[in-house]
Amino acid sequence: MTNKISNLAILTSGGDAPGMNAAIRAVVLAAEHYQLSVMGISHGYNGLINQEIRPLTKQDVHNIIHQGGTILKSARCREMMTEQGVKQAASTLHKNNIDALVVIGGDGSFKGLLALQEHWQGQVIGLPGTIDNDLDGTDHTIGFATAVDTAIHAIDKIRDTADAFERVFIVELMGRHSGHITFNVGLACAAEQILSFENTPQGRAKAIATELAEEIKLAQKYDQSSYIICVAENLIEGGATALATSLQQDFGIDATACILGYIQRGGSPVAKDRIMASKMGVAAVEWLLAGKTNLMIGEQNQTMAEVPLLKAIAHQKTVANNLICTQSNIFSFAQEQ
Ligand code: F6P
Repeated sequence: MTNKISNLAILTSGGDAPGMNAAIRAVVLAAEHYQLSVMGISHGYNGLINQEIRPLTKQDVHNIIHQGGTILKSARCREMMTEQGVKQAASTLHKNNIDALVVIGGDGSFKGLLALQEHWQGQVIGLPGTIDNDLDGTDHTIGFATAVDTAIHAIDKIRDTADAFERVFIVELMGRHSGHITFNVGLACAAEQILSFENTPQGRAKAIATELAEEIKLAQKYDQSSYIICVAENLIEGGATALATSLQQDFGIDATACILGYIQRGGSPVAKDRIMASKMGVAAVEWLLAGKTNLMIGEQNQTMAEVPLLKAIAHQKTVANNLICTQSNIFSFAQEQ
């Protein structure tokens, strides 16, 4: 490790994800180990623009590895989409003599990092922090495993009541543009249907209900006692609620909508997220010391991988759907990569 840097800054940005605190902790402890100082920026890029910056030490990251959310707070920042906002953010970094910035977030957060480099010459490293798992170059993002587990536990409970009442449940899952959560949760819960961007044409609830109705009635005729449909948010106009309403009103099927929502973002991170986030946090400091910049740290086959920031946000990663034959899905599937 050769590079002469002494001051790091770190922020969390975009949708918070379980494991962000583990990553912050690892960056701070690794930095202290290598005798670097760390400044924490609160409220994502908003805090960078508004100079919400304070030193972070070992004491600040004690007892946080198991906590969901982020001790630095997070936000989405419209001002980073303007030249003036980016210049203000760069000016905070200049004023505080920051040599390198670590950002934990998703694709919007990495776009902010790329924009920042037009006005500031320090090193930048991104850590993939989003429950959506929609960043390329990493098998998983920080928070994804916890979100999937949380949803599975919830749907297992829904299955009990669905069985008892012989009901159809439509469960809506997070992931604004991608179906990683929906597919993996649907698979693990043995959902009868998985409806996501990758396998279902986006559209109106009635059109989708029309496709489903016969299949559901057939299953009910053969005494299947419960029927669970996992659906990705933003796929259907009006979401799970509109689909349940159409099934009831247009086809006489007793269907109930359940939107899992923000419980998927919270909670104590599972082991996988804690461990991966910790490895990534240490790698961030070591890579900066080695002079690396403009990269996201990914995990590929349990090894830390260098991913150019631009590549990380290309949205090429497809959901693994080769196990989908275990569902009774009605829609056709994209080929797995
Ligand atoms: O990116 C994470 C995520 O939870 C998505 O799954 C969801 O669509 C979005 O954030 C919700 O964003 P917000 O917190 O701004 O409502």
